[in-house]
Amino acid sequence: MKKTLLTLVQEELCPNGVWQLRDTMESVLRCQMLKLPKKDVSEDESRYPVTREGMRVFLDTFFARHYFQTQNSLIDYMTSVEFLRRLVSGKLQILDVGCGPSVASLAITDMLDSILRNLVEMDEWSKNKTVKINYVLNDTSSICLGTGQDILTDYFRRIKRYNSGGIFQGHTVTIQKAFPNNISQLRRINLNIGRYDIATFSYVIVPLIEKGGFAELVKGLFNIQRLCSDSGRILILQDKFQEQVIKKLSKAIGIPIHREELKQYTYSSKNENETYAYSYFAGVYPLSGVTVAQTAVA
Ligand SMILES: C[S@@+](CC[C@H](N)C(=O)[O-])C[C@H]1O[C@@H](n2cnc3c(N)ncnc32)[C@H](O)[C@@H]1O
Repeated sequence: MKKTLLTLVQEELCPNGVWQLRDTMESVLRCQMLKLPKKDVSEDESRYPVTREGMRVFLDTFFARHYFQTQNSLIDYMTSVEFLRRLVSGKLQILDVGCGPSVASLAITDMLDSILRNLVEMDEWSKNKTVKINYVLNDTSSICLGTGQDILTDYFRRIKRYNSGGIFQGHTVTIQKAFPNNISQLRRINLNIGRYDIATFSYVIVPLIEKGGFAELVKGLFNIQRLCSDSGRILILQDKFQEQVIKKLSKAIGIPIHREELKQYTYSSKNENETYAYSYFAGVYPLSGVTVAQTAVA
């Protein structure tokens, strides 16, 4: 029986139900960590890094976790006919709010690479047909934006070595102004490069509420919705300890955000190559299907 694209991509990224990094991404991650100084940092600095030492701990502790949760949340959509139709345009625009070192962007990029390679194998994509990915990376921390750009460049340099068609890096725009105060900048970029296909809010909901307040976050999410393509998606990820916040948000935006669990290899120096199961909250919502009142616009 012919395997579906979803099955083939799952078998490659999540063999036997355990998510793991493909070789290129693992090398990129390890190489980036070697460039950074090793030192203990506070809990807060490890989650929201603003120094090189903090970035190393973040990459060691959180990168792979958030990366796999992004892939697990988007695999159904990214292997759907709806998404593949969108790819035929040869362009994909990603908006990564609170991007850290481009974690969600990298997860989407590497999954897209796997999807296109599998489509070529299935004779459903021409080997030379390319997809240009444009990135809008937003973070208030300059070390995050710098590392994010660096890792993306390194990733594309490595895949180019053995790739003729497939994905390539288009524009990468970085914005250091805090979301949602940067909405006019995001609108301007939108006018220049086109609407966003995937907008991610991965592990940034809590600081957004702490700094700007709940109402501003909800308003910001509605505004982002208007900047996305009709067949696009918004992804929200947050850890399992934020149940109250997530329930409130889910109600306010009218979108189910579920508790999920996945099994993965760990790439942390403390427990390298062990498997571990993590629970988290994930919401992926189609923009066209959203029926909530569209009142909260700046
Ligand atoms: C826990 S990290 C998550 C990084 C990445 N998205 C991931 O999933 O691994 C949260 C990031 O959000 C950034 N951040 C916090 N408040 C922000 C704001 N108002 N606008 C943009 N980024 C923000 C922090 O600097 C930090 O890098």
